[in-house]
Amino acid sequence: SNRTFTMVKPDAVANGYEGAILEKITAAGFRLVALKKTRLSPESAGAFYAVHRERPFYGELVEFMSSGPIIAAILEKDNAVADFRTLIGATDPAKADEGTIRKLYAESLGRNAVHGSDSDENARIEGDFFFSGLERF
Ligand code: GTP
Ligand code: MG
Repeated sequence: SNRTFTMVKPDAVANGYEGAILEKITAAGFRLVALKKTRLSPESAGAFYAVHRERPFYGELVEFMSSGPIIAAILEKDNAVADFRTLIGATDPAKADEGTIRKLYAESLGRNAVHGSDSDENARIEGDFFFSGLERF
């Protein structure tokens, strides 16, 4: 597939980085297929991250992801999933390469500025979680 899904997480929105991050994403060649600002309830954040339900950080992750507004977007580019994960860098910003979005804008492992889908299948599931058929074309 040539699509992936991203969120600008609550830390990056609160810190005023949403514009800079969207600029980096589009400058890297990703087209914005769908875009919205919204806020997850604890229930919807829990559902989005259900695959991590058994992990020790799940409660902290759900609380953080529902703590303030986020930007959700479907992105399009050749090799979108892998290229986007390269653009954002390692999960822990302390380990992320120079110039990556997490290196530039993330606060910590738990507050790491952006989400990027990890597979084509999850990109579809996650995009469908946020956007109706009328909102993505
Ligand atoms: P996402 O793009 O957000 O899915 O990140 P990822 O694919 O790089 O990492 P993963 O899916 O394994 O984990 C999901 C999110 O949980 C990460 O982005 C982190 O914000 C958070 N997370 C992962 N490991 C830890 C941890 O050890 N402690 C805390 N507090 N959060 C963690
Ligand atoms: Mg992940």
